[in-house]
Amino acid sequence: MRWTTQTTEDLLQRFAAREAADSSEDLRRVDALDKVLGRTLYTTDLKRADVLYVRVARSSCPHAVLKAIDASSASRVPGVVRVITAADIPGSKNFGAFVQDQPVLCYDKVRFIGDPVALVVAETPESAEGGVRAVEVQYEKLPAVFDPKESLSGKGMIHERGNLLDRTIVSKGDVTRGLEEADFVVSGTYSTPMQEQAYLETEAALAQKETDGSVTVVGCMQAPFVVEHAVKMVLGSAVPSVRIVVAPTGGAFGGKEDAPEGVCAMAALATHLTGKPALVAFSRQESITFHPKRHPMVIERELGVTKDGKLTAVRERIIADGGAYASLGPRVLFAAACVATGAYEVPNVFVEGLLAYTNKVPAGAFRGFGKPQALFAAELQMEEAARLIGMDPARFRMRNMLRVGSTTSTGQVLKDSVGLEECFMKAIEASGWRVSRDRSDPPANVRRGMGMAALIHPTGLGPVGVDVSSATIELTDGSVVIRSGLAEYGQGIHTGYAKIARRVLGLKRTRVTVELPDTAVALDSGPTVASRGTAMGGKALLIATQRLKQRLAAIASDLLSVKASEIEFEDDEVLVAGSPGKRISFAVLVAECKKRGVLLKEEGWNRITDTNWDREKGAGSPWVSYSFGVHVAEVQVDTETGKVDLLNYVAAHDSGSVIAPAQFKGQILGGVVQGIGYSLMEELLLDEGRIRNPSFLDYYIPTAADVPRITPILVEAPDEYGPFGAKGIGEPPIEPVAAAIGNAIFDALGFPIRTLPFTAERVHEAIAAQGEERR
Ligand code: MOS
Repeated sequence: MRWTTQTTEDLLQRFAAREAADSSEDLRRVDALDKVLGRTLYTTDLKRADVLYVRVARSSCPHAVLKAIDASSASRVPGVVRVITAADIPGSKNFGAFVQDQPVLCYDKVRFIGDPVALVVAETPESAEGGVRAVEVQYEKLPAVFDPKESLSGKGMIHERGNLLDRTIVSKGDVTRGLEEADFVVSGTYSTPMQEQAYLETEAALAQKETDGSVTVVGCMQAPFVVEHAVKMVLGSAVPSVRIVVAPTGGAFGGKEDAPEGVCAMAALATHLTGKPALVAFSRQESITFHPKRHPMVIERELGVTKDGKLTAVRERIIADGGAYASLGPRVLFAAACVATGAYEVPNVFVEGLLAYTNKVPAGAFRGFGKPQALFAAELQMEEAARLIGMDPARFRMRNMLRVGSTTSTGQVLKDSVGLEECFMKAIEASGWRVSRDRSDPPANVRRGMGMAALIHPTGLGPVGVDVSSATIELTDGSVVIRSGLAEYGQGIHTGYAKIARRVLGLKRTRVTVELPDTAVALDSGPTVASRGTAMGGKALLIATQRLKQRLAAIASDLLSVKASEIEFEDDEVLVAGSPGKRISFAVLVAECKKRGVLLKEEGWNRITDTNWDREKGAGSPWVSYSFGVHVAEVQVDTETGKVDLLNYVAAHDSGSVIAPAQFKGQILGGVVQGIGYSLMEELLLDEGRIRNPSFLDYYIPTAADVPRITPILVEAPDEYGPFGAKGIGEPPIEPVAAAIGNAIFDALGFPIRTLPFTAERVHEAIAAQGEERR
């Protein structure tokens, strides 16, 4: 193959040829070509020659009173234009999704190593860095607390409101009686690590001042309207308006949910105070140092089961390490508590979740949002229970799985759309569960095992108010333009949206483009989180498109002299079935509409209001839509080294009707790979609050060599809330991976390891400890 000598033109030609041949266009992402050709302009690619560079001076102390900041030497560094501290902030000094506890720049205290204390704005990156090194900060050290249990016991006051960031309960039935009724009670403590999102593009924001004094910020992010609000608050009434434009975003995984509020505010401040365009962009090390991660959790759990395999009760306590600021923590804890029983029906439940502040980098949103931790504990314990009563773990799970009509742990009756049983059946079949597992004479030091785990994933914002999304569709000259406040950051939402519009309007060759959000023109669609982009926002687009279609059909009915109900939209034409003469092209119809002055634009709104939560009781129907899935992992464990190798992986998912199959499978593969990292290698190591491995040299994420064959399986239980019956798929695939791999290791070794990740060292130690115990 001479692919290395291929030119862009060759590639384009081949792509065009394949496009012509592949009318299903299933494999094509609408943004693929620009990305593979390097044409996509990310935030840092958009900088102009006159841009100023912003670098951040950060706290070197985990906890201290900020006595004084001396910027005089930094200001004298050649090329430095301005040093900015909290005193220069015209508006609100804090931001935060639910609790406004996080300073844009610290003013009274610093609470973790990496907390921002000053901005240095300079003509070159080097000058800005020189300036940062010259900023002198006087700290008065305070006792720091790194352990959430110690924090909750009252050691070291991190915030005035106390170190308990949040407490949440889920309660159903009578858990004491349920545990008494059990023939066996399995108990254990499970621990999960801090995981880094590891998106390829680090955070960046580029701000400029407009002639009227307003500020525009372009950046990578998930929630432009939330960012707009935060930046407005920080700039205060000094600035007439703020406009946020989402740039192509190179991955997010939850890490760009709230961090961009602070990052964009920094860029906006620099621009506002200097009048010049300003770029904030971070190195990998700095990115890892400050942005919120996956919450480490310690989960103490008891599971009651009868000898014939019925679950009687779950009692659980979650202690989550929130780090220095709230971020999305309270919602993550809530989600973890709600799925603590896994995808199973349990009659008696009591879950208490506690979220503690510590003097560490904040924890926040990360794909899965509390579920990977909760399912790890739940599913390892399910495995233990199955072994205890001598029942096949798959059969035991299916005996207790959620079905249509089941009541969840929060007391919600699942009225519809539970494809879990089919997921089990298909995962069992595809993995050769207990039949084809490879028992073929492994070497003496190698043990093989197979493990299973199921998931339940609530889609959407839940009971935090109203989950509202919106979209607009507009017909311009010869093409369709879709606009939404939801962002494309690699997950494939633009492709899904184009497919929805094409399907409704019967368009194949007509150009359909989806714009990135710009708060000056897009409608607020809520944040691009919680696997809601296609499931919730796609419904808004569907509503808009259907409305537009109705209006078009009325004009077509006039042109073709038939009833509007007889009009069909197909293959870029508008026609009447069975009447060959009665057809016009879509383009002609649009041109006719223009002549007649017909509005060629529609808005769609999707408001989900029927959720509820009783915080005191710990019960309610917090979400309207649930996705399900079953994973099976097959591993081999080297008992001499502790190394775990994955042999095979099956992931069956019910996320309702599938809109874009290739993207859907891509989400499954990507989620599983990220879950493999979480299971086997990823762990941010902190030493007195300092991250010891803030680089991809020392923080390992999976490479192709770590990934086995992954078989994605699509199960489609349609849901009334999503477009064409779709549910969320973005997060579910990562959620049960650690549990499935953990159970495969359990199967191989005969005992569970209750702490993630399963590094060779940890597995080796566990094997050695087990040997000691046996002796
Ligand atoms: Mo997502 S973890 O809800 O941004």
